[in-house]
Amino acid sequence: MTLKPPRWIDQAGAKPSPHCHAIHLQVDGHLHSVEVEPWVTLMELLRDRLHLTGTRERCNHGECGACTVLVDGRRTLACLQLAVMREGCDITTVEGLANGEVLHPLQDDFIQHEEAMAEAALNPPAPMPTITATVSE
Ligand code: FES
Repeated sequence: MTLKPPRWIDQAGAKPSPHCHAIHLQVDGHLHSVEVEPWVTLMELLRDRLHLTGTRERCNHGECGACTVLVDGRRTLACLQLAVMREGCDITTVEGLANGEVLHPLQDDFIQHEEAMAEAALNPPAPMPTITATVSE
């Protein structure tokens, strides 16, 4: 089995592309300075570079909401955002909703109602940022 290189690596080798842009953003309370190519989506940055896989990749077309994160407190589909557009932003993923080992109250509720969620075909990580933002709005 051959592993594909991560999407942010130049396909020709292991060096980042010379087209990379340095961006700085805060993700789940942690400051990150990363270099990304202009075509890298926020979802790819979160999942592939920062290993925050709670941000799901499903339709990749803005239809399912599985990739929803909060950008400066507003719901955003990470698959439709270029990472370079989010320079200086404060991003919250589903991982960032918890406070260390203490889950967000809505995450606790989802766990307690896991069976009903499965019947409704809901995937907890996907709608959690959306629900959290809706409650706070
Ligand atoms: S992956 Fe479906 S909306 Fe982003």
